[in-house]
Amino acid sequence: MTAPIIRTRADLREMTRGWTRAGETIGVVPTMGALHDGHLSLVARAKDMSDRVIVTIFVNPKQFNNPEDLENYPRTEHEDARKLERFVVDAIYVPDGAQMYPDGFATTVSVDGLTNVLCGAHRAGHFDGVATVVTKLFTQTSADLAFFGEKDFQQLQVVRRMARDLDLGVEVVGCPTIREMDGLAMSSRNLLLSDQARSRASALNAVMEDMAEALTKGAAIDDLLPEAKARLAAAGFGDIDYLEMRTNETLTLIDRATEPARLFAAAYMAGVRLIDNIDVPVTT
Ligand code: PAF
Repeated sequence: MTAPIIRTRADLREMTRGWTRAGETIGVVPTMGALHDGHLSLVARAKDMSDRVIVTIFVNPKQFNNPEDLENYPRTEHEDARKLERFVVDAIYVPDGAQMYPDGFATTVSVDGLTNVLCGAHRAGHFDGVATVVTKLFTQTSADLAFFGEKDFQQLQVVRRMARDLDLGVEVVGCPTIREMDGLAMSSRNLLLSDQARSRASALNAVMEDMAEALTKGAAIDDLLPEAKARLAAAGFGDIDYLEMRTNETLTLIDRATEPARLFAAAYMAGVRLIDNIDVPVTT
């Protein structure tokens, strides 16, 4: 069944008011569209945990620091709506720029600390853009719960912190990364890879898995980096923005797996920036 596509805040409010009055919980899956199985797993989780489910689709200009990246971002609304049919969601909210950022819009939500590292250090203003749009999506949809993938682990932690700090009353639910058969984390950006680049891209996860295994056995990350970087270069990866181990909660850089941590990577394959992160079990 095709869900109603809602394009204005007024229509959305009209819809959610009735649900809220009836005491129904609203689960929201914020997306920028180009939906893949990773997104759909969030929708399935939202359906399990909420009375009503809204999927939002908005390619948020405020979180892109590169105009070309924004321009190239895949936009597939019709296809997205079709993929959502089998989940029978209650609404697909597709606001335009004017709904989200009307003339004179002047407010930015900014989260300190967590945003200075990893993607935050390489994409100026990215997390301000994310925090601002997610705050608006939470309030516009009257969300009780919101679902985010661990693939963007830093984003998940930033949104959790923001929801807590601002008393938004939204439970932020993190969901596991969904991977292709060869280990590549699903991402809308994978659509931008040529067939050849796509098959080479799986090296990122393979290298990270091997590093995580060695780290869990007690290795220091500095000793693993030269070989890991050489393997990525041999697979065809260009610039590596980061390949680091950081603690789960505060994203503090660590050298050995002495506390709950993840390995994080961002690297370019044929000009496409791919990110991934995996759990590193604590050394026993
Ligand atoms: O993860 C994304 O797709 C985006 O960052 C989000 C959370 C929808 C905000 O624009």
